[in-house]
Amino acid sequence: MSEMSQLGGERKQVTVLFADVQGSMDMAEQQDPEQWHAIMQRFFSTLAEAVHRFEGTVDKFTGDGIMAVFGAPVAHEDHARRACYAALKMLDDVGEYAAELRRGQGLNFSTRIGINSGEVVAAEVGEGGYTAVGHTVGLAQRMEALAEPGKAYLTESTAELAHGFMQLEDLGSFEIKGASQPVGVFGLAGVGAARSRLDLSRERGFSRFIGRDEEMAVLEEALERAERSEGAAIGIVAEPGVGKSRLCHEFAERCRERGVEVFECQAQAHGRAIPFMPVLQMLRSYFGIVDGDPERIVREKIAGRTLLLDPDFAEDLPLLFDFLGVPDPDRPLQQLSAEARHRALRGAVCRLVRAPNRRESIVALVEDLHWMDEGSATLLGELISSVEGTKTLAIVNFRPEYSAKWASAETYRGISLEPLALEDTRELLRDLAGEDPSLDGLGDLIHERTAGNPFFIEEIVRGLAEAGNLEGERGAYRLARPVEDAGVPASVQTVLAARIDRLGPSAKQLLQAASVTSKEISERALGMISGQSDGEDYRAALCELTEGGFLFETEVYPERVFSFRHPLTREVAYGTQLAEQRAVTHAATARALIELNPDRHDELAALIASHMESGGETLEAARWSARAAYWAGSSRPQDALRLWRKAMELTEQLEESEETLAMAVMSRLLQLDFAWRLGMDDEEEARLTAEAEEIAKRTGDLHSLALLKVATSARPGLPHVAPRWLEAVAETIEIADASGDLHLRIAIRAAGSYAYLCAGDFDGFEEILDEVLELAGDDRRAGAGIVIGNPVAWATMAKGLVIRERGRLEEAEALFNAALRIATEEGDPEIASWTRSNLALMLSMRGEFEAAIALARRNCELTERLGDVFSRSLSLSNLGGAQIAAGDYAGALDSLEEAERVYRGAISNGDEMETWRAGLRSEALTGVGRAEEGLELAEWATAVARERGMLWSLPLTLQAVAIARVATGRDGAGGALDEAAEVARGTGAMVSLEAVETTRETIGAAR
Ligand SMILES: Nc1ncnc2c1ncn2[C@@H]1O[C@H](COP(=O)(O)OP(=O)(O)OP(=O)(O)O)[C@@H](O)[C@H]1O
Ligand SMILES: [Mg+2]
Repeated sequence: MSEMSQLGGERKQVTVLFADVQGSMDMAEQQDPEQWHAIMQRFFSTLAEAVHRFEGTVDKFTGDGIMAVFGAPVAHEDHARRACYAALKMLDDVGEYAAELRRGQGLNFSTRIGINSGEVVAAEVGEGGYTAVGHTVGLAQRMEALAEPGKAYLTESTAELAHGFMQLEDLGSFEIKGASQPVGVFGLAGVGAARSRLDLSRERGFSRFIGRDEEMAVLEEALERAERSEGAAIGIVAEPGVGKSRLCHEFAERCRERGVEVFECQAQAHGRAIPFMPVLQMLRSYFGIVDGDPERIVREKIAGRTLLLDPDFAEDLPLLFDFLGVPDPDRPLQQLSAEARHRALRGAVCRLVRAPNRRESIVALVEDLHWMDEGSATLLGELISSVEGTKTLAIVNFRPEYSAKWASAETYRGISLEPLALEDTRELLRDLAGEDPSLDGLGDLIHERTAGNPFFIEEIVRGLAEAGNLEGERGAYRLARPVEDAGVPASVQTVLAARIDRLGPSAKQLLQAASVTSKEISERALGMISGQSDGEDYRAALCELTEGGFLFETEVYPERVFSFRHPLTREVAYGTQLAEQRAVTHAATARALIELNPDRHDELAALIASHMESGGETLEAARWSARAAYWAGSSRPQDALRLWRKAMELTEQLEESEETLAMAVMSRLLQLDFAWRLGMDDEEEARLTAEAEEIAKRTGDLHSLALLKVATSARPGLPHVAPRWLEAVAETIEIADASGDLHLRIAIRAAGSYAYLCAGDFDGFEEILDEVLELAGDDRRAGAGIVIGNPVAWATMAKGLVIRERGRLEEAEALFNAALRIATEEGDPEIASWTRSNLALMLSMRGEFEAAIALARRNCELTERLGDVFSRSLSLSNLGGAQIAAGDYAGALDSLEEAERVYRGAISNGDEMETWRAGLRSEALTGVGRAEEGLELAEWATAVARERGMLWSLPLTLQAVAIARVATGRDGAGGALDEAAEVARGTGAMVSLEAVETTRETIGAAR
């Protein structure tokens, strides 16, 4: 409990019960206060007794009644059922006393009960006090107010959990104050037919029984031996829901089909307080006693069966009659101490098992030993030792936390039942959900979440159907909404929470800490985070968790690393903690990650940031997000954009300081830097720009202003007009130079140089590239990561480009290869992609078509991984170019259309490459016989290129016009080629010029 107060409480799934004694106030006036007090005390203690009987906690006395909680402080998997049993007992007991008062004193009393299940925050208050708070409590109280005198009402949440175990009367939906939706209300009518979860499954319709061949074979064999008088006991052990009861049920059915009698009993979660309940159940089953049998018939059944086996049983009859609740007035049981009576009973049961006259073999099935009361357990132990040499096969099942003293008995054999394998999970899912193609992949997802536990699988499927993710009916669902956050079904939550609560306080705290951290956690990290020192206690707690099947070791060397065995356990352990407590653990996790991984800070930065954020350490979270974003850079542009956005959002929550202002500008600038790679909403782009500009101007931050200028008017990805673009680049370079920041000067030049290429000013282009290389000197990383990844790699590649355009292909190839090497070594996959694109085109120019296409294709694959629109579209366009050169127009058209789709899908405005892409696409269209469309496109592209001064692509678009004109039988092909040749000559693009001449020959156009 000290742990609880230290944590300040826990979130718990519980059932809350309110009960009051009605009409009390009116009558208080007519009664002597003292007498009145005594009556009320008696009522209160009657109510409290019912609560305690089912292991609930009385939260408080409310003046005329009580509030009780089931499932806290210690979770019970059947909290809803316990509350219902308590309510029934209250109605009975209070009713009895009320009748007495009515008869004796003419007073009228009745009780009303309200029950609701859900989450509460439960905490210790003061000395030994305990309280639950939350909406769940309020709703339970409203149910009480709604209930008619003498009735218990429960909400749909409780009904869902108690369904089948209780008889419920649907009262319809009610508008309840404080609840946004109408609440379904049920009246509690009595105990239901189901005694175990398996009964409930049976009622819903069993899923197809899957696997378990080996276990079945063991049971079959044991039965054969029992038939040869080699009786034995078999114990089936597994965690809740793995299928112990189902296996036993299937085996019992087979036995019955063959005429072998099976007698069953089972212990109940709330039944430990009721001694010998399972034994009583077993004997009733053995004697064939059913509800409603008159006492005399019951006695006859008992006597008949026992005396047939052995006439000596006559002596035991009074005992058996008494135990089974049908004492014979003519043969009363002699006075015995409780101890002596129990001993006599055990003796009688063992003799029943060993009865020499038994000719047929029998199977005795005892379920859920972990809930068995002391007396029954002792009896069972003796029974198990006495099956030797008999025709009795005893089968028991229990969960791993139970350890039986008799497990070493000769006659006993344990089988531990494993969860379903992936294939079996898929099969179960096919049975439950069907085989609609939309369900593909759901099996794996569910297997991962449930770790093959069939009960969890069934409940998750039911939960998904209820939540509307699955549509249709059982066995034939389709996926209506993707399953992202499936949640933990309440029925599963209660089972797992109860298991967690059975842990010792240290182990439980460790488990909760681990649930907050990453998927896997090292022994040292967990120790640091949980604040448990590296001592023996810590190791003992870890051991408790691994042996209990909560955690398992994923690595043992050089250090032990643990992971949760069940993802659902992790979710439940996480969910039980208060937000405040979780925050503390998150922050501790971040600090442990930093301290324990000094060499991996970059790699872990995003994870550290997210723990810092959840831990409420906003400034640290912003710092680590920025670091992670910078590290992702152009290699993982989508992550980078997301992380910069995160850094911005975090910064917004902080007070203004030099650091946060710098971060505010930086995070915006770098988002803008990814706008041309990934696309961004125009409005968002404008907003980010304006915000960054405002701060940069206010702080006089030239560095940022230069980058802003790049983002707004000098970056790629805009429908640039050459003169204005060049001007913007020149101005930006000026601002960068004024800042005096060498890296910035390099980065801005590298990014801006592209304008010269597009405008067809190859000399200007080369000049800036030389400046980049000169400023960088030996530093291959100079200016890296500011706008483009690696400026040195870029400049090397871009020089290759100019030289290629000038027709010096060998030299160009050497430069491309050098650029590729730098980009690869410096970790810049983006520039590597652009370089491969250019290299592929160069191979085409050299007539190496196959190699060109192969390289372009490989490049598309590699580039796709970047997740970057700009580069992906570029790589596809280049593939298209290579395909055209090889004469594969249909293939080219596919590639180019895809390139266009990719680009337009993300980026709304036009861009500097659109005319080039259109020129290529036009050639492909004409090539596949759609020359009219080709012509229209080429003419549009030519007009745009001419108007914007995009002289690098103009010869290409003009050439496309010429080809399409010939193909459509129009005039003017020669004129177009003349203009193309003139432009190419003007810019010095010798390869373009050569291409124009080749085209002229191919299509036979006049000069
Ligand atoms: N082999 C199986 N094939 C199909 N369904 C199964 C299989 N095993 C179990 N199930 C289903 O999974 C659910 C849980 O099984 P069961 O009640 O037998 O678990 P249990 O191990 O007895 O759990 P508990 O410890 O809570 O009693 C049931 O609905 C059952 O029908
Ligand atoms: Mg079971």
